[in-house]
Amino acid sequence: MKIGIIGGTGLYDAGLFQDAEEQRVLTKYGEVKLMAGYAEGNQVVFLNRHGAGHKLPPHLINYRANIAALKETRVDMIIATAAVGSLREDIAPGQLVILDQFIDFTSGRKHTFFNGGADAVVHVDMTQPYCQEVRGTLIEAAHSENLPLVEKGTYICTQGPRFETPAEVAMFARLGGDVVGMTNVPEVVLAREAEICYGAVAVVTNSAAGISDTELTHQEVLDTMAANQAKLKRLLAKSTQM
Ligand code: HPA
Repeated sequence: MKIGIIGGTGLYDAGLFQDAEEQRVLTKYGEVKLMAGYAEGNQVVFLNRHGAGHKLPPHLINYRANIAALKETRVDMIIATAAVGSLREDIAPGQLVILDQFIDFTSGRKHTFFNGGADAVVHVDMTQPYCQEVRGTLIEAAHSENLPLVEKGTYICTQGPRFETPAEVAMFARLGGDVVGMTNVPEVVLAREAEICYGAVAVVTNSAAGISDTELTHQEVLDTMAANQAKLKRLLAKSTQM
């Protein structure tokens, strides 16, 4: 089994490698840096979504190159992590949400491999946007590690890089969103187009703007991620062993 891990904000190494080495993969969409190694007998490839030193904002991430690189390294599945704000009073910071749906509010991103012409025209099915197999593994791993878990959730993807207004947050909650973030689309869509089984665990780092009455900062997101990093690493370690 070869497992791809895409680390989001606050997860810049998987923390589970025995012997990691850097790999550079040149794709049609650009070059991608990966760390490749072994964890408990499985091959693991780690990709840092925001690049070295968190230099890439959500709207400038080369999602196509990232997924193409993981496809080229022939991963059997992808587990992605994502920092999110909660849209619900009953989903608190520190909880892990295994995403099962998304609603896309991004714009202007390079969001497909299929642009017609020399590429095919393909309309992928999104009835179950996240791979059920990876979701099952993440849920089982979280239970066996006794981690605070919400088994499903709808992810609202905003364009960013700004945070939301309270009016937007109220709208997103009414639309059925559970959590909000800036990166899962088009990543999950491109993985489906590339026919890679993709699942994502969202780490709730804050209540979305207007739900808590304090102002939201990126530092708050980083601090909560740091405080919950051990949980996430335990989840990834367990998931890659299953
Ligand atoms: N909004 C959007 N993206 C985020 C948030 C948020 O509140 N928290 C972490 N990523």
